[in-house]
Amino acid sequence: MRTLIKGGTIVTAEQEYVGDILVEGDVIRAMGTHLDEAADRVIDAKGKYVFPGGVDQHTHFSALCNVGNRDTAGYETTDSAIVGGTTTIVDFAPQDPDRGLLDSIDYRINVRAKDKSCVDFALHSMVTYIMDSIFDEIEEFPRRGISSIKIFMAYNGSPLHVDDGTFFRILEKSRQVGATVFVHAENGEILNFLRSECVKKGQLTPHYHYVSRPPFTEAEAVRRAIYLAGQTDTPLYIAHMTCREAIAELQKAKGTGQRVSGETCTHYLTTTKEVLDNPDFNEAAKFVCSPALRDREDCEALWQALSDGLLTAVSSDHCGIDVAELKQAGRNDFTQIPNGSPGAGDRLHMVWTEGVCTGKLTRQKFVDVIATQPAKINGIYPRKGTLAVGSDADVVIFDPNYEGTVHLADNPNGVDYNLYEGRRQSGRVETVLLRGQVVVENAKFVGRYGQGKFIPANMYASGYENRN
Ligand code: URP
Ligand code: ZN
Repeated sequence: MRTLIKGGTIVTAEQEYVGDILVEGDVIRAMGTHLDEAADRVIDAKGKYVFPGGVDQHTHFSALCNVGNRDTAGYETTDSAIVGGTTTIVDFAPQDPDRGLLDSIDYRINVRAKDKSCVDFALHSMVTYIMDSIFDEIEEFPRRGISSIKIFMAYNGSPLHVDDGTFFRILEKSRQVGATVFVHAENGEILNFLRSECVKKGQLTPHYHYVSRPPFTEAEAVRRAIYLAGQTDTPLYIAHMTCREAIAELQKAKGTGQRVSGETCTHYLTTTKEVLDNPDFNEAAKFVCSPALRDREDCEALWQALSDGLLTAVSSDHCGIDVAELKQAGRNDFTQIPNGSPGAGDRLHMVWTEGVCTGKLTRQKFVDVIATQPAKINGIYPRKGTLAVGSDADVVIFDPNYEGTVHLADNPNGVDYNLYEGRRQSGRVETVLLRGQVVVENAKFVGRYGQGKFIPANMYASGYENRN
């Protein structure tokens, strides 16, 4: 099957030009101006932008919530991600209670995602039950297509938390095998103290979620994570950075040449903490995620850091947690609200509307932070994250003239709300190809549940020079 995408403005992280893309089978066969090869299907992209499929390197599909014993929405809800222009996710593979790291990865590929995933997916391993055997399992990562492992410095008291001693052991072992350590950096002990103080005083509404998670608790953990990773010389990736204090730590470390990068997420760029002051519990609880939302000045600092290349990627940190059901656990006590919000389907248009249309990001930078860098960091570039001959034909055709408003009904995400409901939307993903197949047409999913496949990562392509 040959498909010719004609006359669109092709945008990659490096360049932009009006041209054509010839897709044959799964891959891009040719790119250029005025291609006139025979094709079974021609897609007219005149007046549209043509981007590489988005890569979202931070999602939690079918994953244990940090409060309670329930899972987030599963891979059958990834249709929303692909309608939003994300063709590949790098999802977390938390260790299941009765399984090791590798079994949990296999179970995720062969059971949780099988016949359901609409997007291609790579995986970060994630330690949740600390036992000696996990260190032997990390040695197997290069042979299993896993290039990173996630640890949580926060959530003390839940199985997600990893103490500093274990963190250090994981850093050492990861350095030996060439893996990158992803870290959720918040000082969990101080957070637990601040949260318990709120509870003691009867300060129980979602407003106290951000009061009890001040920026210094993030910045301190970022500094500590950087320091420890520096001792072992392990590549470090800091998840969901939110504030000026934390970015300053990243900047200092990068200045010394340390192998450290950071991402932020759509909501930290576009939404400030006042939404947690809403007296309607349901409206406020939707925005309970960690770290907490910050001030307008922090949003501006994050945009600037992306533009400057200090932050490398925008992720969704997608967590499908219903308000009507799961978030109710914290109706009378904010500490019991499961953390996380959905957003995999909204990342591209939100960053476009609030970043590109406002002049904060160039179109090249947009592609870089939503697709190219996440693919590089996770060892799946150039198969994913770019438009190039030989790359997978994951292509987004984007209509920049669309003006509208975000509504859950336009792109259902498997939970009962869209975090950006009612927000302005400029530009829209119109057509998406996944490995050469048209899977989104007129902004609607026309693909197949189960079309997504596991993409093994190559450690030594993961964006960092290998020093082992
Ligand atoms: O609030 C969040 N981000 N929930 C998901 C788990 C995590 O902390 O990444
Ligand atoms: Zn997360």
